[in-house]
Amino acid sequence: DHEKTAEVTKHFTGLQIKYVQVGPEKYYFCEGYKRLGPKIYNMKIRSTDVFLVTVPKSGTTWTQELIWLLKNDFDYNSAKAVPITQRFPLLEQSMTHNSEIARSHLNVDNGTEKQTQMTKILSMCGFEVLQKASSPRYIKTHLPLSLLPQELLGTAKVVYVARDPRDVAVSYYNHVRLMLTFGFQGDFKKFWHFFLNSLVSWTPYFSHVKEAWVMRNHPNVLFMFYEELCKDLPSSIRRVASFLDKPVTEEQVARLCDHLSFDNFKKNQAVNYENLRELGLLREGYSFMRKGKAGGWRDYFDEELSAQAQRWIDDNLRGTDLRFPDA
Ligand code: A3P
Repeated sequence: DHEKTAEVTKHFTGLQIKYVQVGPEKYYFCEGYKRLGPKIYNMKIRSTDVFLVTVPKSGTTWTQELIWLLKNDFDYNSAKAVPITQRFPLLEQSMTHNSEIARSHLNVDNGTEKQTQMTKILSMCGFEVLQKASSPRYIKTHLPLSLLPQELLGTAKVVYVARDPRDVAVSYYNHVRLMLTFGFQGDFKKFWHFFLNSLVSWTPYFSHVKEAWVMRNHPNVLFMFYEELCKDLPSSIRRVASFLDKPVTEEQVARLCDHLSFDNFKKNQAVNYENLRELGLLREGYSFMRKGKAGGWRDYFDEELSAQAQRWIDDNLRGTDLRFPDA
C-alpha cells in the first residue's frame, strides 16, 4: 500500500500533499512521508517503547507530558529543562523534509545562523533520532494504527487520545494559522471544508479514530478522550499510571495535576512550542496553548455548519458504539 502514494492535486498549504491508500481510505501526508512510510512500517519495536497515537490537536502534548513524567519518576527538573520534542519525538518527522520546509517557506538558506538554529531544534525530533535513541523510547505519532509498525501492538504499549472532531478542527485551524510554514490563507469555514473532506494531513479523521476504537480492549492499548482529561484529570492520570504499571500516591497525582494545568502549561517553555517563535516560525497574536477547553467549537460554527457537522458525525458513528463524551 505504501507504494501507491500518489500526488493529490487539491491541497491547501502550498506544500505538496501526498496520500497513502489504506483499503478504501486515503490518508494524507506531507511529501516527506513518502520516503519514511515503508521504513516506519518495518521499524523494529522494543518492548519498552511507549507510543502515543492521536489525530493532531487532540491533546497530544498534554498526554505526552503526563506519560513522560509518570515513566520518569516525576523528574520535574528534566521535564522543565528539556523540550518535549526531544523527550518524546514525533515518529513521522524527517529531518531532511524539515530542512526543505525551512528553505522553501522561510527563505532560510543553508549555512546561515537561522538554519543552524533551526536544525538544532528540529534535530531533536524525528525518525532518524528515534532509531538511535536509547531505551525506553517515548514515541509520538499522528499516523493511524494501520500505518504504524507491524510489530507494534504485539510488542509495546500504545496510548490513543481522541477528541471531538469539531474541537479538533477549530484547534487545527488555529495551528495552521499559527505555524507560518503552513501558509494557510482563509477563514474557519474554508478550513472546515478541507477537514471534512479529509484534505488535511493525518485525516480522514473518523477512520483514524475508529481504527483505534476497535482495538481499545487490546491489553496493549489504552483509549482515552481529551474531554475525560478535561473533566477529571486525576482519574485520567491514575488510568494511564495503571496501564503503564506505575503505582502512584495521591500526593504525586496532585502535584502532576498542578504541573499539567493549562495555566502552568501556557508558561512552560518545554511544552508550549514558544521556542519556534524565536525562529520566526509563529504568527504574532497566536499561540500553541490556545484555550485548552472542551466544547469551544460552538463559537466557530454557525447554524448551517453545526447541522452539517452533526450529520457528518452521526453518519460516521452509525453502526459503532463510539460516542464522544459531553464537553
Ligand atoms: P486548543 O487549541 O483547543 O486550545 P496537540 O497537543 O494534540 O496539538 O493539542 C493541542 C490542544 O491541546 C490545544 O487545544 C491546546 O490548548 C490543548 N492543550 C494543551 N495543553 C493543555 C492542558 N494542559 N490542558 C488542557 N488543554 C491543553
